[in-house]
Amino acid sequence: MSNTLEGSVAIVTGGAYSIGREFSEALARAGASVVIADIRDGAEVAAEIGRKYNVETMFQRTDVSREADVEALAAAVLSRFGHADILVNNAALFAELPKVDFRQIPVETFDRVMAVNVRGPFLMAKHITPLMIPRGRGKIINIASGTAYKGQRNLAAYVTSKGAVVAMTKALARDLGPDKINVNAIAPGFTESASVNDNPHQKINAENTVKSRALQRTQVPEDLVGALLFLASPASDFVTGQTIAVDGGSIML
Ligand SMILES: NC(=O)c1ccc[n+]([C@@H]2O[C@H](COP(=O)([O-])OP(=O)(O)OC[C@H]3O[C@@H](n4cnc5c(N)ncnc54)[C@H](O)[C@@H]3O)[C@@H](O)[C@H]2O)c1
Repeated sequence: MSNTLEGSVAIVTGGAYSIGREFSEALARAGASVVIADIRDGAEVAAEIGRKYNVETMFQRTDVSREADVEALAAAVLSRFGHADILVNNAALFAELPKVDFRQIPVETFDRVMAVNVRGPFLMAKHITPLMIPRGRGKIINIASGTAYKGQRNLAAYVTSKGAVVAMTKALARDLGPDKINVNAIAPGFTESASVNDNPHQKINAENTVKSRALQRTQVPEDLVGALLFLASPASDFVTGQTIAVDGGSIML
């Protein structure tokens, strides 16, 4: 698929690295201008993607849990592009989280996971949709997780946050339907992303996950790109409030 998103402006939170970087690159390859909003430096990545696919790119350092950062991002996108068409809420606390029984999770950690993984997509939707509404269209793609459906031992704060993302997807789809903005989610299975490879403790049980799939192989970030491009493109114009599991058929919704 190429150039189907030409003329679109896509914002990818956590777009500088790992799965988010894969998403930034896929959207650029499809012709979109790409805004990377990440807490880590993504200036080089944005420039490289811009050169490689001959699209406009921009990096804005953003902590999605901070409303002031998200407001500054919205203002910067408005001033540079005048609008936004696609928002990928990918940023989350995941790979670096320790795997521990829920009784050992400090309340500060629980609250921080909620702030990034739940408040983040909420703030992004709140402040970016005003850049979509005047165009009479928009696509929000939330990155949930298969763990919201099947649970995951020793990752309670994260699993809870992703359940909230699935529910928020439905709530925002209802609120934004009148504005012709589609809100959908992707629930990836366990994916051997760069962040996971940096934190090998997340790979405990990876073999069992592979065995749980109808398609029994390791999942990689590229596996998520097809669903992303579908949800970002006019092909999904009558699809909203849905969560698509992309996990080789482990959970079957
Ligand atoms: N890798 C998997 O197995 C898997 C499975 C299901 C869902 N997911 C989801 O996919 C997404 C990407 O996961 P990943 O494996 O690439 O690793 P990750 O979750 O560690 O990467 C997240 C990205 O978000 C950025 N980020 C972290 N906190 C931020 C903040 N406060 N503000 C802005 N950016 C911030 C990081 O710098 C990084 O670029 C996440 O939403 C994750 O929950 C991953």
